[in-house]
Amino acid sequence: MDNVPAMTADTGQQTACEQQLRDAMVQRLVDLGAARHPRVVAAFRAVPRHLATSDVSMAKAYEAEFAAVTKTDPMGVDISSVSAPRVQAMQIEQARIRPGMRILEIGSGGVNAAYLAEMVGPQGHVVTVDIDRDITQRAQDFLAATGHQNVTVITADGEHGLPDHAPYDRIVVTVQAADIPPAWVHQLVEGGRLVVPLRMRGMTRTVAFVRDGERLVSDGLELCGFVPMQGVGANRVRLVLLHDAEGEEIALRLDGHLEPDAEALRAALRGPRAEAWSGVTVAGDESTEHLDLWLTTALDNLPLMAAKVAARERGLVASASPIGVPTLVDGGSLAYRTARPTDVPDRFELGAIGHGPQGSKVADRLAEQIRVWGHDHRGHRARIEAHPAGTPDHQLPAGRLIDRPHTRVTIVWP
Ligand SMILES: C[S@@+](CC[C@H](N)C(=O)[O-])C[C@H]1O[C@@H](n2cnc3c(N)ncnc32)[C@H](O)[C@@H]1O
Repeated sequence: MDNVPAMTADTGQQTACEQQLRDAMVQRLVDLGAARHPRVVAAFRAVPRHLATSDVSMAKAYEAEFAAVTKTDPMGVDISSVSAPRVQAMQIEQARIRPGMRILEIGSGGVNAAYLAEMVGPQGHVVTVDIDRDITQRAQDFLAATGHQNVTVITADGEHGLPDHAPYDRIVVTVQAADIPPAWVHQLVEGGRLVVPLRMRGMTRTVAFVRDGERLVSDGLELCGFVPMQGVGANRVRLVLLHDAEGEEIALRLDGHLEPDAEALRAALRGPRAEAWSGVTVAGDESTEHLDLWLTTALDNLPLMAAKVAARERGLVASASPIGVPTLVDGGSLAYRTARPTDVPDRFELGAIGHGPQGSKVADRLAEQIRVWGHDHRGHRARIEAHPAGTPDHQLPAGRLIDRPHTRVTIVWP
């Protein structure tokens, strides 16, 4: 974006610059495979998203991966943002929206609602709800500026959906959810699609569900990151620090996992490491998102371990990721997924690094499941189903079961 012409007060030049930035963003979204359908491309070409983020440069507002944070809580956690164009396009593709549809968006920001409004056209309608009045005000101001009139903005807790405007052909949730409240299922038409960033044992995937009676069945999932849900459905991961030197923090992110023996794990991490290699290789740019979901399906007690880059640079861990790497915990020992270069350029072998008295055995168990994935599941996608709480076990598909207050989520592999 460096060679973007400088902005001047001249409206003609400014409009040309805007359009140039928007076209470049759309091209990038197409190249990334995030925008595919011609109507999605047209929607992203139409909306002047920079009007929602006046505090960043126009060039920044049109970067495909840039999410503009609009609110942070007292702990420093981001709680509201205008999502990155790539993520918005990905979810809109997942929703398969047609003209004339009625859509509920949970989590407002204005920009995504405008894209949804473009997708449904003048015969369709979008209702967007946010729990935070500041955010709905921002969204309303933005939609007034862009002239999208087929959007209703409401301040409420999205946990309950919005029964007054139901039913919806599509529900698009733009905030991380640990559960699926019954209202979202019941306010969706039969066969309708719910697109939701669902956190499953610490791993968030935006899942495209199709309603089939009382259950939801996935039809695609994508890796994503979203701000956490507030209100009645709030359910955050809990951090357990394994190394707390400032700027080098290493922490386990617990999401229904067993309470770890933190003292023993801290000591283990300071001790010697054991390695186990799987023989499974991946390209440098190949995502491990499906492998990681397999690992959490196959292994109990596998939280993510997040580490700062400085922790890796100091040699405390071999892998650092703000999202986290799957880490198998067993008493006072742990092993995390990692990778090492091979003789083939840009190919890496997957394996595990263990610490603690049982570190070698735990690393072997993790490496073994990487091999199982490489042999049996690579190239396949997990199927996620969500059934109402109280559904008896024998009516659920066999697989990893995650029980939440409203839902029994299953992860099943072909
Ligand atoms: C990532 S932002 C939404 C982005 C937006 N859709 C856009 O245009 O890019 C997530 C929003 O969800 C909202 N939120 C969090 N919990 C909520 C809840 N229970 N009900 C409704 N909104 C909620 C937050 O206030 C935040 O503004």
